[in-house]
Amino acid sequence: MIVLGIETSCDETAVAVVERGAEQRVRSERVKSQIPLHAKYGGIVPEIASRNHYEVIDFLTAEALQEAGCGVDDLDAIALTLGPGLLGSLLIGLSFAKGLSLSRNLPMIAVDHIQAHIEAAFIENPDIRYPVLALVVSGGHTTLFYQPSKFKTQVVAKTRDDAAGEVMDKIAKFFALGYPGGPIIDRLAGEGDETRYPFSIPRMSDGSNDFSFSGYKTAVLRHAANDRLQPGTPAFLDLVASFQHALIDYLLDKTNTALRTMKVASLIVSGGVSCNSHLRRRFREAAEAASVPLYIPHPRFCTDNAAMIAWLGYEKYQAFPHLNYFDMNLNSYARAVFREGVKHR
Ligand code: KG4
Ligand code: ZN
Repeated sequence: MIVLGIETSCDETAVAVVERGAEQRVRSERVKSQIPLHAKYGGIVPEIASRNHYEVIDFLTAEALQEAGCGVDDLDAIALTLGPGLLGSLLIGLSFAKGLSLSRNLPMIAVDHIQAHIEAAFIENPDIRYPVLALVVSGGHTTLFYQPSKFKTQVVAKTRDDAAGEVMDKIAKFFALGYPGGPIIDRLAGEGDETRYPFSIPRMSDGSNDFSFSGYKTAVLRHAANDRLQPGTPAFLDLVASFQHALIDYLLDKTNTALRTMKVASLIVSGGVSCNSHLRRRFREAAEAASVPLYIPHPRFCTDNAAMIAWLGYEKYQAFPHLNYFDMNLNSYARAVFREGVKHR
């Protein structure tokens, strides 16, 4: 089965062609990043994002098809991100998919972006065993999931405020380090002393297990103000390194607790922040200590991409063959929906 994947939830237009069935491979993958368009604002401008998706989606699809060595007539289905994300951006992908579905009579499989980040780990590792503990950590989301099976999802912890990547991006913006902040902080942290500045692990006053990242911004700014730190100085690099170390400590703390208290056969970490070199190393160490196999996708499948959308689309199509895949009333959703099992249908 040949599936065209379409991803337009945020600031990357992505199109992929995957082959599933006897052969399992990503035939082509195209990502048009909008980073240069948003960089000068230090964050994503929604109207610019959706306009750019609109401008590039058709030629990107043509390129992906060409690279995959097939035409529209060779496609068996279209998979697209229905949500969550920026509504204007999502609607471009949905409208494009609807047009293609109508004109070519192709099933249109709508998938959840966050679940697709988890699915990304299966592209290179088809034999991941359940139950899965999955940490999706990106610029828009930070959620720890427990999945007894692929289409059964429970939330163990989700962020109440910022996502981990969002905090990195905001701190980088504050100090004018560049955009997106995650990769820049990753690089700078390598040059600093991570033990120099103290950060405490956030605890919810109501006893909830949720994440909260917004306190890290305040703590970083306070340390910087107290010591009158300027970007580029050794002490500033120490602060960046200490902050990143603390953020990863926090992610590890929750993950380790879940590993200790739940029956877990595999650990998946995915989403843009899982490109982080320190995170990858420290999660590898933690998984080894807990004797749980860890799967972190290749960085190109960690950040937003359409291969993960097509991959999950195929799985959904197999698991729920009787759903209506020609529903032209389908509508995008901006906010994450955490109802067990529902989001896939
Ligand atoms: O998954 P993604 O492409 O988009 C969302 O769904 O949000 O993630 C983008 C996020 C940004 O916040 C970016 O700063 C972060 O991933 N990121 C990183 C690294 N590369 C990307 N964060 C830390 N270290 C990195 N190397
Ligand atoms: Zn994402």
